[in-house]
Amino acid sequence: MNHKRVAILISGGGSNMVSLVDGMTGDHPARPCLVLSNDANARGLKKAAERGIPTASVDHRPFKGDRAAFEAELLKPLEAAQPDIVCLAGFMRVLTGDFVSRFQGRMLNIHPSLLPKYKGLNTHARAIEAGDGEHGCSVHEVTAALDDGPILGQARVNIEPADTPEDLAARVLVWEHKLYPAVLRRYASGDRTPVLLP
Ligand code: GAR
Repeated sequence: MNHKRVAILISGGGSNMVSLVDGMTGDHPARPCLVLSNDANARGLKKAAERGIPTASVDHRPFKGDRAAFEAELLKPLEAAQPDIVCLAGFMRVLTGDFVSRFQGRMLNIHPSLLPKYKGLNTHARAIEAGDGEHGCSVHEVTAALDDGPILGQARVNIEPADTPEDLAARVLVWEHKLYPAVLRRYASGDRTPVLLP
């Protein structure tokens, strides 16, 4: 089989990256080709290396105020890996429209809310604060607008009265780890029908 090549961008622990990578075996139509971070100390890089995946990092901090210059550096290892699909998995830098347009139609992101609700940060606290009965996570195609773009899958989680943002985040994360691999598998096979869980 001619596998699709998947590059995964992370900033931290990389638990979603691990769930994507660990799913890409057997009859899965894709395989990981690179794990890339904006932080050389991201714990996920070690997890990727342990799994035998090439890793790279480009520290965003020296480029403060110059997003385009940071992205030019980020593009070097990314383009060298020749990905068919780019998965943002807890990648916490906002990307410019220029960068995104290079990967239009082949870049995915996971976001911890039921989009279009709660774009941006602190999603769990905002859902609790709003008195919502449910929350969850979404995988979407990345477009130039932040946390926007066609939705490829969602998983829903009930909010319990005693939930702290941390409790809720932990329960949503369990579903992120089911949702993202399911969406990637479907997407890599050319099917963009949304995955709805549970
Ligand atoms: C995940 O909850 C992901 O949805 C979120 O960051 C966490 C990364 O965890 N992403 C965003 O908030 C993107 N705006 P991980 O590094 O363990 O996958």
